[in-house]
Amino acid sequence: MNLIVVGAVVAALIALRFLKPNALAWTAATWVALYVAFRWGIEPPLPASIVNMFMGIVTIALLAFVSADSERLRSAKSNIVNFLVRKKYTVPLLIVLVALPLLVAFKIYVDMSRSPQPPVTGRTIHPPPPATISFKGKTVDLGAVENPFREIEETDPEVFAAHVENGKRVYHQNCVFCHGDHMEGDGIFAHGFDPIPANFQDATTIAMLQESYLFWRIAKGAPGLPMESTPWASAMPAWEKFLTEDEIWDVIIFLYDYTGHRPRAKEELH
Ligand code: HEC
Repeated sequence: MNLIVVGAVVAALIALRFLKPNALAWTAATWVALYVAFRWGIEPPLPASIVNMFMGIVTIALLAFVSADSERLRSAKSNIVNFLVRKKYTVPLLIVLVALPLLVAFKIYVDMSRSPQPPVTGRTIHPPPPATISFKGKTVDLGAVENPFREIEETDPEVFAAHVENGKRVYHQNCVFCHGDHMEGDGIFAHGFDPIPANFQDATTIAMLQESYLFWRIAKGAPGLPMESTPWASAMPAWEKFLTEDEIWDVIIFLYDYTGHRPRAKEELH
């Protein structure tokens, strides 16, 4: 609480009782005093939406208070009429008529000219993977695990081609709806999601990732993302329950085969 502001508001409200202004001036002064108290009197500051809500309640309460008593209502009405027609109020009236639209215009201008703000929390698209994951009950060491079929790429191209073929089937049965016909992240469901599905053709996805990293992301999906990648409403499913280990390695092989990218090699430990 900011004691100086709250103290000043309380003093102003007490002074108002002694000054006995007319009903209209009293209502306006009370409204302004409460606005000042909510807006600057509370630390840490209230969000603007809360202040607006409180002021809505205050406005209704003041209207109810003024209109509840017919005598008060009558005098408030005559105050308004006087303010609008009396010669001596011409200057304040003009100020109100000019100042109100100007204030609104100024507020809109200030709100519009604010530059776009980055999200409150940064999200990490490629967080470091955990050291190990459990996959169908067994522990997979992501630092050490390799795609078991990668080594036959050179030595046994025919069997390797069968794995590519199987990966293609897995992809078209499960992934194509989101990641797209050409793996550009533009499948038929893609536009319903934010973030949109990963574009595997792009140089910033699988081209710079290790196969073990893909294994983790495919097995664990969005639910497996660590804290630094949330809040992030990724729609990527966890495939552990639906695909076998070999099917995941096969679909990984297909992703690289189709896009022409090479998986990132494991770093040598020095
Ligand atoms: C329901 C839509 C959906 C389906 C189906 C889907 N994905 Fe995803 N996938 C996403 C979204 C959205 C992302 C991006 C957000 C993220 O990284 O979690 C993503 C990200 C990924 C990533 C991470 C890429 C990177 O750069 O980090 C991989 C790998 C991946 N998907 C593979 C697959 C595979 C393989 C399948 C099929 C077995 C599949 N996905 C099915 C929505 C989907």
